[in-house]
Amino acid sequence: MDNLGSLKRSHYSGELSTSDLDTTVTVMGWVHKRRDLGGLIFLDLRDVKGLIQIVIHPEKKTIFAKAEKVRGEYVLAVTGTLTRRSEGNINKNMTTGELEIDASELAILNDTLPLPIQIDGVAMADEDLRLAYRYLDLRRPYLQKIITTRAKVTSLMRRFLDAEGFYEIETPMLMKSTPEGARDYLVPSRVHPGKFYALPQSPQIFKQLLMIAGFDRYYQVARCFRDEDLRADRQPEFTQLDIELSFATQDEILDLLERLMYTIFAEIQGVQIPLPFPRMVYQEAMDRYGCDKPDLRFALELVDFSQILQGSEFQVFKDCLASGGVIKALAIPGGAAFSRKQQDALVELAKHLGGKGVAFAKVADSGLETGISKFLSTSEASAMIKAANAQPGDLLAIVADSYNTTSKVLAFLRNQLAKDLQLYDPKDLAFCWITDFPLFMPSEDGSGWEPAHHMFSLPKEEHIPWLDDPEKIGEIRGQLYDMVCNGMEVAGGSIRCHRYDLQKKIFDVLGYSEAELKSRFGFFLDALKYGTPPHGGIAPGLDRLIMILCQADSIRDVIAFPKTLKATDLMNQAPSEVDPSQWQDLHIKFSE
Ligand code: AMO
Repeated sequence: MDNLGSLKRSHYSGELSTSDLDTTVTVMGWVHKRRDLGGLIFLDLRDVKGLIQIVIHPEKKTIFAKAEKVRGEYVLAVTGTLTRRSEGNINKNMTTGELEIDASELAILNDTLPLPIQIDGVAMADEDLRLAYRYLDLRRPYLQKIITTRAKVTSLMRRFLDAEGFYEIETPMLMKSTPEGARDYLVPSRVHPGKFYALPQSPQIFKQLLMIAGFDRYYQVARCFRDEDLRADRQPEFTQLDIELSFATQDEILDLLERLMYTIFAEIQGVQIPLPFPRMVYQEAMDRYGCDKPDLRFALELVDFSQILQGSEFQVFKDCLASGGVIKALAIPGGAAFSRKQQDALVELAKHLGGKGVAFAKVADSGLETGISKFLSTSEASAMIKAANAQPGDLLAIVADSYNTTSKVLAFLRNQLAKDLQLYDPKDLAFCWITDFPLFMPSEDGSGWEPAHHMFSLPKEEHIPWLDDPEKIGEIRGQLYDMVCNGMEVAGGSIRCHRYDLQKKIFDVLGYSEAELKSRFGFFLDALKYGTPPHGGIAPGLDRLIMILCQADSIRDVIAFPKTLKATDLMNQAPSEVDPSQWQDLHIKFSE
């Protein structure tokens, strides 16, 4: 093994260019690949910026002997002359594919055990194994690119917001629970037996307190913790770019975010995203797409047949409409060619989502061909074709159910079908704003109301009087907005209740007792009484933004050390048992 000694790196591998030709360079990194060809040894040396090919000639006996010992992932320092590769040797897929280093010195700085996973990326090991050896998996150029891009994005976000007059301010990690709709991760207090801190689900209350404290414009790259069911776009700990501003309108906040997104995509990807983003109120999104985070890379809108089928003799439709439900459909382009098996798969999906099923009707030149044709009049069929703007060869997938179930089923089918039928280019970007969400939704047990987003948002000006009218609570729309891209909620925010009396009314609607209010939010309600400025904010999820920017399918690919879907860390085995003496210190007993 050699020492680093006085060796000094002159360049990163991936940054070598033709302007460095014929100079002596020193690079350091890992052996990505090694090939012996006709007496020559070729190494691809990898570092965080990319790869460079090294050639070692047999005449250079000492280093050739060393190079013969070298294996994949050995750590080397190589000095040599940067030369142009011979014509047949050029690799167009590599940034430095025209270049190679003709080695004159080679130091082996470290060797390695045989690797449990492959780094050069052909045969991918199972994800669990890769997560167990995350430090090795992270060496893969794909993950190196994403994690370094993430660093560039946070740096850019900071520069952008600093220039807009924001202050980066840290808020506590050990705090009192701020409800954001998920369960808290709790930390027991040693000093106060039986008491717990909560890890922040978001810095929501603190950022509002910073506005009350007069800081005017705050941001934080904030780690948030939520104990909830995990999915491809959800982690138990994730990062928000948390933002709050005083004296700003909703329009100003949306404009700020649009400019931030524009800057990120332009500087990082060289893509100019069109501004402003389209805006749609929540109800319109639900009606047209069945969900509040529509993927606008493709059309495939829901069509409402409820009016057309008002007089239908088909029992399922009749019952559905009589009980206040809706009949809606998707017109699947070219779907008439679907096999029975493909149709059955859609029905299974619908049932899995709580629907009763899907009725199908093929669009033909002569009208609709369907199992329910005897219940459909010619005029109903042609009205359906017209409403759906369907063409011969299309397939109508019809769902009759409650508004919520119909929306849920068709929204899911819409996304699935668009993916299967390749109705969009995965490189497309479709941003939009969804605004005017309901402030409250019925609680799960039906006994009262829950906040639809969170409890600190201001109703729309004209709906404020409805806070006093129990009949109108469900109709109140909030000054709430989500930024959606490609069907994913990237950011959420609102204009806040800066008036004590309104915030108190909201808590009243949510059914908090005075005692509960005082113990959970007393400090915050008190703060609102001391000259709170009008304020609002937003929080883009950094992880999801990076997923979109890097076209990653899994949130685990954009976090250096992510958790599994079961919220475990396979590398360090967290969560893990602790020494019973630690329980004692924390005054905890397990009851099993
Ligand atoms: P919200 O709960 O909508 O709002 O969260 C804001 C954004 O955070 C991201 N996000 C997540 N990302 C990964 N894993 C999760 N489990 C997860 N949960 C949320 C999403 C989401 O849009 N305090 C408010 C913000 C505000 O009103 O200013 C809040 O936290 O991208």
